[in-house]
Amino acid sequence: MSGFVLKGHICHSADKDRIEILEDHYLICEDGICRGAFAVLPEAYASLPVQDMSGKLIIPGLSDLHIHASQFGYRGLGMDMELLEWLEHHAFPEERKFADLDYAELAYGQFVRHLRRSETTRACIFTTIHREATELLMEKMEESGLVSYVGKVNMDRHCPEFLQEKDESETRLWLEHTAGKYQNTKPIITPRFIPSCTDGLLYAIGRLSREYDVPVQSHVSENLSEIQWVKELVPDAVNYGDAYAKFDLFGKDGQKCLMSHCVYSDEREMAMMKENGVVIAHSPESNMNVASGVAPINRYLDYGLRVGLATDVAGGSHESMFRAMIHAIQSSKLRWRLLDQSVAPLTFDTAFYLATRGGGVFFGKVGAFEDGFEFDALVLDDANLDHPQQITTHERLERIVYLGDERNIIHKYVRGVGLF
Ligand code: GUN
Ligand code: FE
Repeated sequence: MSGFVLKGHICHSADKDRIEILEDHYLICEDGICRGAFAVLPEAYASLPVQDMSGKLIIPGLSDLHIHASQFGYRGLGMDMELLEWLEHHAFPEERKFADLDYAELAYGQFVRHLRRSETTRACIFTTIHREATELLMEKMEESGLVSYVGKVNMDRHCPEFLQEKDESETRLWLEHTAGKYQNTKPIITPRFIPSCTDGLLYAIGRLSREYDVPVQSHVSENLSEIQWVKELVPDAVNYGDAYAKFDLFGKDGQKCLMSHCVYSDEREMAMMKENGVVIAHSPESNMNVASGVAPINRYLDYGLRVGLATDVAGGSHESMFRAMIHAIQSSKLRWRLLDQSVAPLTFDTAFYLATRGGGVFFGKVGAFEDGFEFDALVLDDANLDHPQQITTHERLERIVYLGDERNIIHKYVRGVGLF
């Protein structure tokens, strides 16, 4: 048995409404798996080395369920547009550059360096249509020690010719090269969204998902103009989600499926997502930046949907999942105040749940410190966040999320491996 013990203040979600705080506990990692947290170190683990983090906070790693590695280079720029215009003016011209492997080397190198240092331990990533650059990113992600799904984007219409592929052949080749190649880095089928893929391409990649047993990720019900466009493009679909379902890209029969946004999902789309086990990637900052709207997250949670959190860089400006938590809370309050009092705003504890357990479900038993969960953890030091009064551990955690950043992370573990 190989493993170790972390001693400190253990904080994780007991459920979607409550963070459980276990002060001065021993957190056990055995062969990359968590064996729980204990007030007294159990005899069975007495031989493991104890890393003393007394006084520090220990939280599960955060899962970023939706981030565009290929847009990282222009994060924080060009936010004065809505989605469809923003894609034309910013996303597409930047993504074109990834035909050049030297550019990809530089840009993806920066992306991975930032992500490795961030709160994120696991991520679901979009690249571009370019197979070779995508394989380069996967190599770098594997070296980083982070866990990820990486998706070569599919597009063959309604975008500049330089971003249109002729068919699914490059995607098949990419799957041949990468499915099963890495321990921590897996491919995921990634139609950009319905408007950018012909029926033929959607049909072909839906089949590839089954043939290679690879999950699916995409965007759904993000922006009102986009939703109207999808109605026109797939008139026989009852809603946007159904347009994916027509091509076997919406999570039926055990296909793992992740959909970003769901700002405007109606009852029928919610019912389909629930039945098919689709996981929602809530991307609150992006939804504000490109003025899409605010997703009713508590409605989805109360309905029993599975929801995690995402940065959606470069719709979102920053890779920080702490910031994503704050944006989720703040936008939900404005939605409640200005639009709809039937959906309660998100609490801090629920935002923490979304960033840990909520998103962790897409990766398996991930996002909490229960026995049998994979051991992803961050050790947080808040010594720089001055306060004159006594505060609780829960308050310290809340303050780190609001005021802190990656510099407050002093150790990071993924699957039991220490990254720093
Ligand atoms: N829908 C289609 N492509 C994109 C993208 O790159 N970002 C966001 N936020 N939405 C999309
Ligand atoms: Fe996106």
